[in-house]
Amino acid sequence: MAILITGGCGYIGSHTCIEMLDAGYDIVVIDNYYNSKPEALRRVKEISGKEFPFYECDIRDAEGLRKVFSAHKIEAVIHFAGLKAVGESVREPLMYYDNNVAGTVVLCQVMAEMGCKRIIFSSSATVYGTGNPSPLKEEMPTGAVTNPYGRTKFMIEGILADLCVSDPEWSAVLLRYFNPIGAHESGHIGEDPNGIPNNLMPYISQVAIGKLQKLSVFGDDYDTPDGTGVRDYIHVVDLARGHVKAVGYALEHNGVEAINLGTGVGYSVLDLVNAFKSANSVDVPYAIAPRRDGDVATCYSDPAKAAALLGWKAEKNVEDMCRDTWRWQSQNPKGYDE
Ligand code: NAD
Ligand code: UFG
Repeated sequence: MAILITGGCGYIGSHTCIEMLDAGYDIVVIDNYYNSKPEALRRVKEISGKEFPFYECDIRDAEGLRKVFSAHKIEAVIHFAGLKAVGESVREPLMYYDNNVAGTVVLCQVMAEMGCKRIIFSSSATVYGTGNPSPLKEEMPTGAVTNPYGRTKFMIEGILADLCVSDPEWSAVLLRYFNPIGAHESGHIGEDPNGIPNNLMPYISQVAIGKLQKLSVFGDDYDTPDGTGVRDYIHVVDLARGHVKAVGYALEHNGVEAINLGTGVGYSVLDLVNAFKSANSVDVPYAIAPRRDGDVATCYSDPAKAAALLGWKAEKNVEDMCRDTWRWQSQNPKGYDE
């Protein structure tokens, strides 16, 4: 019996592979390398000291998926595969609906056909949209999203919920991630964004290493303690461990559950810049810039449901997140391209 990990070569997927292997699970990984490189899984094998099967396969390729499900007894699927760039989704909405939504439909069709009805899905705090106050709780209304990427997450949550209603054998855990940052403490795997990063932490670390000149802080006039945006940053290894717990839960329970994975604590942009500087004794030049379209002032989780249902809570602090990001960045200035 094995767990299939789609998109397992990516940032969160590669860290989850390690935690799943450490927890004693057999895994099978698929990825189409759209946003990742084979080197990531080579390093996962090196760190874990374990081998596992990998298939270069697109989740929209039903025939390819059938081969994987026929070759292995798959008990459950952790489904990371998807596109995640908010700005790109505004420019290329059909690409996002095709890859994320249609891809998930094909995956679920093949799963049902092959008798595997347990899925852990990578959702996002973005489904809470603009109308809810933090701390965000799972029972709050969702769907007031501000871009096509967020809409794919909202739509897929609905599709998986419908599936669980239609057939009581299905189990779907919708994990709503807050802001994953950090890297494996070995410094051998981490986030390797293409081009100029969109997200705060990879931007900070590329400024610190001198690849980028200075950070633009998007707005200092929000209604927050220092005026800059507040987010719930979570260490990617904590997040990965949340998936291990979610697999255990999905193997024991049917039906659908949405669960936040966050720390419950908010840090501002300047808090994170200062934490990074002091954890790593590096400079991070920045300048205040206009607000970025679509950003909310404050977004952090209520993590109580994850504690109650999964017995999981984040254990690493912001200093760990900053130190581990820097170890990865400084040991791999070109990411996996060495
Ligand atoms: P990532 O891009 O590093 O990983 C996604 C992986 O999926 C990549 O390796 C990519 O090549 C693969 N992939 C994409 N489309 C595919 C397809 N059609 N078939 C097969 N493989 C495909 O991203 P990540 O940060 O690891 O995110 C993983 C998941 O978590 C995504 O679904 C993302 O939307 C979600 N998520 C991420 C964040 C974040 O801030 N990183 C926040 C909330 C949710
Ligand atoms: N920020 C800057 N400068 C930058 C980049 C970001 O000031 O160069 C600020 C943003 O304005 C925001 C904070 O840093 O206040 C965090 O921004 P990120 O882009 O790192 O993260 P977001 O919270 O905007 O978005 C993330 C994921 C999305 C996901 C969302 C869910 O990238 O995929 O969380 O809330 F949908």
